[in-house]
Amino acid sequence: MIGRHPGGLEMTARLLALPGIRPPARILELGAGEGKTAVYLQALGFEVRAVDLKPSGPQVEQGDMRGLDFAGESFDCCLAECTVSGCGDGNAALKEAFRVLKKDGCLLIADVFFRKQEAPSLSMGKPLTWNCWKEAFEQAGFWIEETKDETEAWKEFFLESLWNGNAEKNCMDFFIEAGKAGCGYFLACLRKGGENGFI
Ligand SMILES: C[S@@+](CC[C@H](N)C(=O)[O-])C[C@H]1O[C@@H](n2cnc3c(N)ncnc32)[C@H](O)[C@@H]1O
Repeated sequence: MIGRHPGGLEMTARLLALPGIRPPARILELGAGEGKTAVYLQALGFEVRAVDLKPSGPQVEQGDMRGLDFAGESFDCCLAECTVSGCGDGNAALKEAFRVLKKDGCLLIADVFFRKQEAPSLSMGKPLTWNCWKEAFEQAGFWIEETKDETEAWKEFFLESLWNGNAEKNCMDFFIEAGKAGCGYFLACLRKGGENGFI
């Protein structure tokens, strides 16, 4: 089993720092897996709900980020670490995050992108370059408030997985494909509304 997302909880802290979001904000974690990030967020004092298609921890509820069972405008923040690109339909997931966010709420996303045009599409319908992400964010209605390139953390994650021997074969295949397509890793804070927003 491969480790968690690149950079671990330190990367989560860097993501939270982008908008300077503070407890007791209400956060929805999308694709929470075993729930380590959700536990971390709760310990910081945030009010947290966490969903995953296949939950593997007690803090995580079964839920599909492409069609969420939450009312509109019910969260201050959605958090998606390494999940939108592989959720089956990333565009639907972005629209759902937009729907459940309060006005002025933000989606914090950490994910992969590729520098070459012959890149994998994963769940985004076309080669997953930074331009593809930008278009998808804007089509969902978001204003891109801040982005950060964390490709070095991805490189470390890749090397660490090799060194520790904890990458499964399908992950190794992805790493090989990703390396050929010039894989990078980004953090972004996407705002619903606000002065320059779309609502
Ligand atoms: C690479 S893991 C990342 C897990 C966690 N966010 C982390 O950073 O450790 C991707 C997670 O997304 C979940 N997932 C995939 N498609 C999903 C969907 N449509 N809705 C909810 N969760 C999904 C998977 O089950 C998996 O737990």
